[in-house]
Parts: sequence; C-alpha cells; structure tokens
Amino acid sequence: MAEKKIIAVVGATGAQGSGLAKAILSDPNGGFTARVLTRDVSSDKAKELAKLGAEVVAADVDSVESLKNAFRGAYGAFCVTFFWEHFSPEKEIAEAKAMAEAAKHAGLQHVIWSTLEDTRKWVPLGDNRMPTLHGKYKVPHFDGKGEADKVFTELGVPTTFLLTSFYWDNFIYSGMGPKKGPDGELAITFPMGDNKLPGIAAEDIGKCAYGIFKRGRELVGKTVGIAGEHLSGKEMAAAFSKALGREVRYNAIEPDVFRTFGPGADEAGNMFQFKRDFNDVYCGARNLAQSRALNPELQTFAQWLAVNGKRISVA
Ligand SMILES: NC(=O)c1ccc[n+]([C@@H]2O[C@H](COP(=O)([O-])OP(=O)(O)OC[C@H]3O[C@@H](n4cnc5c(N)ncnc54)[C@H](OP(=O)(O)O)[C@@H]3O)[C@@H](O)[C@H]2O)c1
Repeated sequence: MAEKKIIAVVGATGAQGSGLAKAILSDPNGGFTARVLTRDVSSDKAKELAKLGAEVVAADVDSVESLKNAFRGAYGAFCVTFFWEHFSPEKEIAEAKAMAEAAKHAGLQHVIWSTLEDTRKWVPLGDNRMPTLHGKYKVPHFDGKGEADKVFTELGVPTTFLLTSFYWDNFIYSGMGPKKGPDGELAITFPMGDNKLPGIAAEDIGKCAYGIFKRGRELVGKTVGIAGEHLSGKEMAAAFSKALGREVRYNAIEPDVFRTFGPGADEAGNMFQFKRDFNDVYCGARNLAQSRALNPELQTFAQWLAVNGKRISVA
C-alpha cells in the first residue's frame, strides 16, 4: 500500500484546523494522515487528536525553526494565523512568512493558506467611508492576511488561497447571537442592510480544505472562496426564530452606529461595511456549489442551528 501523505495542520486544536485534522483522521482510506501542530502537546485537545490517530508535534508560528521541524517530510500544510490572539496584522504577516519559508525549506508540494481579502484594494486608506485603523488598515484582520498572500507566491510555494467566511459559531462564542431589546423582543443586529452575509460552520472550513488536498494539485495557484450559505439578516433571523421557537428580528443599523458598540466594534463595523458595500465582490468570491463539491457534508445555517442552537445563550 502506498505511504500516506502527511498534512501538517497549523491551528489543529482550533476551529479551522481541527475540522481538517478530524476530516483526515476520519477517512483512513483517503491517502492522507494528519500531523497536528500545537504549542502544548499535553493539552486535552492535543491528546484527543492523538487518540484519533494524529501525530502531535510542538510548534509555534512565531518560530520558523519549529515550523521547519514540524513540516519536515510532509506532503502539505494547512496554514492559518491567529489575529485575535494579538490584534496585529504585522504579526500575522510575519507568521505567514515564517510558514511560507518553512514550507519552502521542507519542499512541500501543496500548502493551503487561510486568507481573507486585503480590503484596501477596494477601500483605499484615503476613502473616508470608514475609519482607517492601526494607521494603515481598513479591516486589520482581513488586510494583513490578504497582504500576506504574496509571501507564498514570491517564495514559489505551491499554494491554494482559501477565502473563508464568517463563522456561524460566532453566535455561540462572540456574543453576536439574538439579544433582547428594550421592547423585550429578540433581535440580531448587523450593519448589512438587506445584503447577504456568507457564513459557514467553522468545522466545514477544515472539511473544505480536505477536499482541496484530495483534488491533488488541481487547485494549486488558485483562490478558492467557501461558504455554507449567503444569507440576509432577515433570513438569519427567520432561521433563528424557527430553531429557537420564538420570534427573532433583524435589526439593520448603520456601520457608524455599530462602530460605537465598544472594544473591537470599529474593526467589526468596518468588516461588515466592506461586506455590505462590496457585496457582489464578496459574495461572488465565495461559491456555494464549489464549497459543496469540496465538502459534500457542508451544512446549511438551519442544519447548523439544529445541532448548535441550544449552545447559543439568548439574553
Ligand atoms: N471568527 C470568524 O468568523 C472568522 C472568519 C474567518 C476567518 N477567521 C480567522 O480565523 C483565524 C483563527 O483561526 P481559528 O478560528 O481556527 O483559531 P482558534 O479556534 O482561535 O484556534 C487557535 C488555535 O491556534 C493555536 N495557536 C495560537 N497561537 C499559536 C501560535 N503562536 N503558534 C501555533 N499555534 C498557535 C492554538 O493552539 P495551541 O494552543 O494548541 O497551540 C489554538 O488552538 C483568525 O486569524 C481569524 O481572523 C475568523
């Protein structure tokens, strides 16, 4: 039997990477095996992946030497950065560079870089429709990733650029779920007008990435955008109403109002405004049929809610 190809998975104990690691490990005849990278090989999540059959290796995206070691002998790697750990696009770019250098050093045949748009291509810094943040970004956690695309290209790393979407899991973990207004009614609040928000179950990102690796080198050099569904605020509210058994409304507000909502709201307000103002570009880059072809188990929002609705605290 041919030897299995090793996929080194950065962030394997996190949302995106764990979906990929588990997809590989649950398909023993798929021709791949997972090497999971973690800073703490003794964590419960690392141990759980080891139990499922993963090789667990210590690595830190801030250390190129640890990445070279972790990528050695692998066929491919899934590369992701962790903006919310440090809030620095510069650090994300440096981490992407470290991963690209390590991939080149290891001679990897296929890398997936989990990226997002550099929104400054559409909203230059001089465009005052939204504030400039951190001195030179419009949507820092998008722009740094998009800027880092060239790091992989310039080093000649065979890369698929994976454009991800808003995780529906944010409704569980990021306080974006339905909230009671002053009138006592439940509502979700976004500055998206009537436009569609591409969303996805976080675990489906990893499953789509597995689909990309399974295509061989077909998608090397390509940008692949994924989403489970493109839904308007009203459509999401209707799905919430059905899943929760009580009416949830969509409260459409202006980005300027959203940006006043406290720490991090300026960044999120800019992000939603980019998705609203360039909705055709943003939705057009995330093809649902292709996402489903890569991951036949791709969940719709209603399916995701049926499993996860109870985990959303409704306040
Ligand atoms: N939330 C959304 O809607 C959304 C949508 C699209 C894209 N994104 C992007 O997704 C990215 C985060 O991915 P995620 O959600 O999969 O992350 P996550 O669930 O927060 O997981 C992060 C994992 O990465 C590992 N990690 C953190 N710092 C590390 C380091 N220095 N070196 C090596 N590993 C490190 C941690 O593992 P160990 O502790 O085991 O080392 C952790 O389990 C962000 O950059 C964000 O912008 C988010």
